[in-house]
Amino acid sequence: MNDKDLIAAAQTARSAAYAPYSKYTVGAALLTRSGRVFSGVNVENASYGLSICAERVAVFKAISEGERDFEAIAIVTQNGGMPCGACRQVLSEFSLDTRVLVADVTGAYQQWRVRDLLPASFGPASLTR
Ligand code: THU
Repeated sequence: MNDKDLIAAAQTARSAAYAPYSKYTVGAALLTRSGRVFSGVNVENASYGLSICAERVAVFKAISEGERDFEAIAIVTQNGGMPCGACRQVLSEFSLDTRVLVADVTGAYQQWRVRDLLPASFGPASLTR
């Protein structure tokens, strides 16, 4: 799947976001190296701290389906906002090479690698040295 299609999948997913408190809806689409796509949306809660981001929903869906090799994740918001630190950390657990495509509603996007968004990170290897 190409980048534009992955962004379109994130945009489609975004319509299911549950964000009645912030009104900031986020859609994500995670592409595995095997070619599968897992979508995610932010899911808020009246107990605000229990809310979860779209990116982590997508990652956890993929992991729970046995997929761990991630090629890219597309994230769509109204304004092209960047993924939060918690989601960067969760992505970094599986690969620092995963491409992160950050798009706004027009489809305009910028891309990074997880390693660029989370330099000098704490990860699996940190526990074995
Ligand atoms: N949010 C995400 O889904 N992903 C991010 O990377 C940043 C923030 C959500 C969480 C919350 O539902 C709303 O956006 C406002 O913070």
